[in-house]
Amino acid sequence: MTAMGYVPSWLNRDEVFEFLKPEPSARLDLSHNCILYLEDLNVSFDGFKAINNLNLYIEPGELRCIIGPNGAGKTTMMDIITGKTRPDSGKAFFGQRIDLLKMSEAEIAAAGIGRKFQKPTVFEELCVFENLELAMAGDKAVWPTYRARLSGEQMDRIEETLVLIGLENDRWLRAGILSHGQKQWLEIGMLLMQNPKLLLVDEPVAGMTHQEMDRTGELLTSLAGERSVVVVEHDMDFVRSIARTVTVLHQGSVLAEGTMDQVQSDSRVIEVYLGE
Ligand SMILES: Nc1ncnc2c1ncn2[C@@H]1O[C@H](COP(=O)(O)OP(=O)(O)O)[C@@H](O)[C@H]1O
Ligand SMILES: [Mg+2]
Repeated sequence: MTAMGYVPSWLNRDEVFEFLKPEPSARLDLSHNCILYLEDLNVSFDGFKAINNLNLYIEPGELRCIIGPNGAGKTTMMDIITGKTRPDSGKAFFGQRIDLLKMSEAEIAAAGIGRKFQKPTVFEELCVFENLELAMAGDKAVWPTYRARLSGEQMDRIEETLVLIGLENDRWLRAGILSHGQKQWLEIGMLLMQNPKLLLVDEPVAGMTHQEMDRTGELLTSLAGERSVVVVEHDMDFVRSIARTVTVLHQGSVLAEGTMDQVQSDSRVIEVYLGE
């Protein structure tokens, strides 16, 4: 969880004021209709090229699915965007101006990039509502004082999020007793409390029932528009059900990009998947 209002040390005085605007992503410059630029990225692990001249461009409000065989570099790509892994070369920008390669993981999260890992990490002993409240406070240490002063606007945001993630009738349930799918939705809700402009989601439907998968598809689709959503997923039926533009990664590079029909009929894509 990130502390709201964290100020990166390299900013000059004017940029600090800009950064402290109430909306953490107020600095985000989307003037070229691109929220994420990855250009010529390269990463090697002990001589093995996990990311190889990778280029990826995501538009504001887009829902992008990323597919590719195991080891294609999907998770490594997300690690670079979120500052967990540093590339050997290349560029990674959030909007026009925010250079992700100069920022820590906490700074990147505070700038408006949220990441949902595969395993849900909700606070099991707290109820659904409290989990959202805590996520909005951003820090367990300040939460008790924070919750005592919740404004109407903040209450409205929690309420909207509860409806969005379909847990409005379960708000007082302890998170520990939720189903696997419900925990995943709650965690997405917790990320939303930090107002991300780009949401990265790694394998959201792993372990879900068909009904939960349908509901997750609707949720991710509804989240795009106001923010960009990048979904990495193995389940092809699920990807087909939500996909607009699909990017296929292979050996650390983009192999194909287009609609699901376009990439599925691409002979190179067929070869890579049959070769698995
Ligand atoms: N920290 C690391 N050290 C060494 N090799 C790694 C590390 N992280 C990933 N790799 C390797 O990089 C390749 C890409 O991995 P990954 O990004 O996890 O692929 P994907 O998520 O598409 O399955 C794999 O061959 C993996 O073994
Ligand atoms: Mg992976």
